[in-house]
Amino acid sequence: MTLRLTVLGTGYLGATHAACMAELGFEVLGMDVDPSKVGMLAEGRVPFFEPELEPLLRKHVESGRLRFTSSYAEVAAFGDVHFLCVGTPQRKGEYAADMRFVDGVVDGLAPHLDRPCLVVGKSTVPVGTAARLRERLTAAAPAGAQVELAWNPEFLREGFAVEDTLRPDRLVVGTDSAVAEATLREVYASAIASGTPFLVTDYATAELVKVSANAFLATKISFINAMAEVCEATGADVTVLADALGHDDRIGRKFLNAGLGFGGGCLPKDIRAFMARAGELGVDQALSFLKEVDAINMRRRGHVVDRARDMLGGSFLGKRVGVLGATFKPNSDDCRDSPALNVAGQIQLQGAQVTVYDPRGTDNARALFPTLNYASSSVEACEGADLVLHLTEWAEFREMDPAVLSDVVTEKRLIDARNALDPVRWRDAGWTYGALGRP
Ligand code: UDX
Repeated sequence: MTLRLTVLGTGYLGATHAACMAELGFEVLGMDVDPSKVGMLAEGRVPFFEPELEPLLRKHVESGRLRFTSSYAEVAAFGDVHFLCVGTPQRKGEYAADMRFVDGVVDGLAPHLDRPCLVVGKSTVPVGTAARLRERLTAAAPAGAQVELAWNPEFLREGFAVEDTLRPDRLVVGTDSAVAEATLREVYASAIASGTPFLVTDYATAELVKVSANAFLATKISFINAMAEVCEATGADVTVLADALGHDDRIGRKFLNAGLGFGGGCLPKDIRAFMARAGELGVDQALSFLKEVDAINMRRRGHVVDRARDMLGGSFLGKRVGVLGATFKPNSDDCRDSPALNVAGQIQLQGAQVTVYDPRGTDNARALFPTLNYASSSVEACEGADLVLHLTEWAEFREMDPAVLSDVVTEKRLIDARNALDPVRWRDAGWTYGALGRP
């Protein structure tokens, strides 16, 4: 008999996981405590932008293989495997992760688990969480120890979430149970058959794989951004430096794009939660370098604001600034901890008139920063601008003909804070082009 799967929490991770599991042929029931999300998803609509997701979701809602509910009782009655996909945001005023959604979903589900089943944690959690949750689950579930728990971290990137879920580069499972392992091998059979490495380990290692991967990626980005600072002081070019470093197989070119730094719902809060957890474990020294990684990253935002002010002659007062990009990266509508929005906001607070255009992120940006002006095109955002800032590297900005903006701006001045535009093209069109870490 085919396994029946449930997915608890239908945000970026859960909604994608649910649709992809249906695509793999399973019957899937998604659950969320937010009735408006459940309503939208049940109609085949995705409450956020993620390429490829909506058609996939609609396909399986229509086929009946994918349904949504807000009832824990229904989830427990339906599922053989329950995936926990709720968020672990940063706690207000602290570095540590806020575990209330993870704990809440376990407390909501457990009292209904009255037959053998497998609960699989996918959320990014502090190391030690799985062991704690196992106790909590078996204590509260009528089926007791027949409810098993495994930890199976998720590595998906926003913008590539469907691809990353259907064709992951590795599968990591924390469990000491042969039954749990066999069940997850069945769930991921197609990926395993196509050669995806499947690593079975203890809970703590599985939890650590996720946070240490994100810590490594954040370090790589801050490393190249630190080099960008040195390049700026010496007249060197960080983009050529990164290309040259990247040819060394041991280093690799990926995640060496210097610019405005990392943001989003994962990297910033994950490295902070990791530091907080290391402190609790008495190994804070081991991760003190992450403080520097975080500091280099946050400095990028201030640096772009300083460069912009310099380009405007020392003050933002009375100046107009056109901003291209609001999301934390392209191909997403996510503005959580977005460096672009942070810079736009700081400049506005220092007295400029700032108008932002983003291909997908305007609604989320407006909700977070309602006092900025928002435009519906690049041209509209840059009308009358004394300075244009390129802050998120959408393809549409890269492909844009500089001449399109030349006619509407007051001054042809640009800072490419993602080092993603072609300097020759912009300079040839008469623009003063400034980049980060390159002449
Ligand atoms: C990240 C991890 O990549 C993913 O494996 C994990 O599951 C969740 O966190 P995501 O937040 O979607 O994924 O974004 P990612 O593509 O990693 O980019 C993070 C940030 O780093 C973005 O703001 C991006 O603009 C920035 N970045 C990335 C750089 O500044 N330079 C780079 O070279 C790469």
